[in-house]
Amino acid sequence: MRTVKVNLDRKISSSYEIRLGKDIIDRMVLLIAKNHKAGRYVVITDDCVKRLYGKKFLAALKDIGLNAALIDFPAGEASKNINTVMNIVGKLMEMGADRGACLIALGGGVVGDVAGFVASIFMRSVPCIQVPTTLVAQVDSSIGGKTGVDLPYGKNLVGSFYQPAAVFISLNFLETLPEKEFNNGLAEIIKYGIIDDERMFRTLEENIDAIKARDPKLLLSVVENCCQIKKSVVEIDEREEGLRRILNFGHTLGHALEAVSKYAITHGEGVAMGMVAAARISEKMGYLKSTEPARIEALIRQAGLPAAIPKALDREKVIAQIKMDKKKKDDIVHFVLLKKIGMPFINGHIEHGIIAAVLEEMKG
Ligand code: GLY
Repeated sequence: MRTVKVNLDRKISSSYEIRLGKDIIDRMVLLIAKNHKAGRYVVITDDCVKRLYGKKFLAALKDIGLNAALIDFPAGEASKNINTVMNIVGKLMEMGADRGACLIALGGGVVGDVAGFVASIFMRSVPCIQVPTTLVAQVDSSIGGKTGVDLPYGKNLVGSFYQPAAVFISLNFLETLPEKEFNNGLAEIIKYGIIDDERMFRTLEENIDAIKARDPKLLLSVVENCCQIKKSVVEIDEREEGLRRILNFGHTLGHALEAVSKYAITHGEGVAMGMVAAARISEKMGYLKSTEPARIEALIRQAGLPAAIPKALDREKVIAQIKMDKKKKDDIVHFVLLKKIGMPFINGHIEHGIIAAVLEEMKG
């Protein structure tokens, strides 16, 4: 038998820059024009972001002479499905977009995931620039290349790893972000402190009120810190085969709580409760000093996030939901636990009794 080898190992660089700051829109469009040349720029956004920022952003692109258009879809997780993807693809075809197009995802996590996925499949892929407008998207979902949509079977079940061509983070977008949405982002920020950076965790403890008041200087440094942490993890483990799982700290239980509450519990709230539970489980299993769960819980409460689980939630349903976690591999649900703040590890087996006890303890 003869062999012809196709050598494709990393011939193309998929590195990119994350640029962040305040009042950066004019500079951002110039950098897009200079560094991401395209025959056509198509802004993908939702109807809510379109109203607030989309038209202005489109005008800024056109003002410097770029061929730009905008496609929007209804805001919300319900739009994160394959029909939205096909509608966008249809609109791209109708406007004559081809392989020379560049998509710009302007919005929160749903917009970023949908636009990134469309970019990864349209004409067998076109570049996608992420311009995240929510705190969650700025510190998490716009970085690292996870794209995709939900199926009736569960969230994010169809998608791709497709890194953006660039990420531009403007803090101005946070000025109009509702408190609940801002808190979703705070939960992710606290997560980064817990899994990677005890110093940032202390900064959060000392400055949580100013951060909640959206102090621009503090926010910029915290958001930048989170981007640094996320990019360091993604650089080592782009496709979540090991280390990247630490980014799911608090998420295994968080997702289960969200699902069992039929999404009455927001993502940030679920993650907050999940982080408290993971800390308590770590302590019960003898890994974490007994003072640390209380510290985590206090910060979560100060951030305006819940640390207690609603009494009405059925404990066994939550545990059954955890077992359906889409991130499980070979039937093992990987829990992220802690040895100390800043030192997480993955544990593939936690006894049902320990999870049940912690869930019971946490009922508010
Ligand atoms: N949001 C977790 C990750 O990007 O891996």
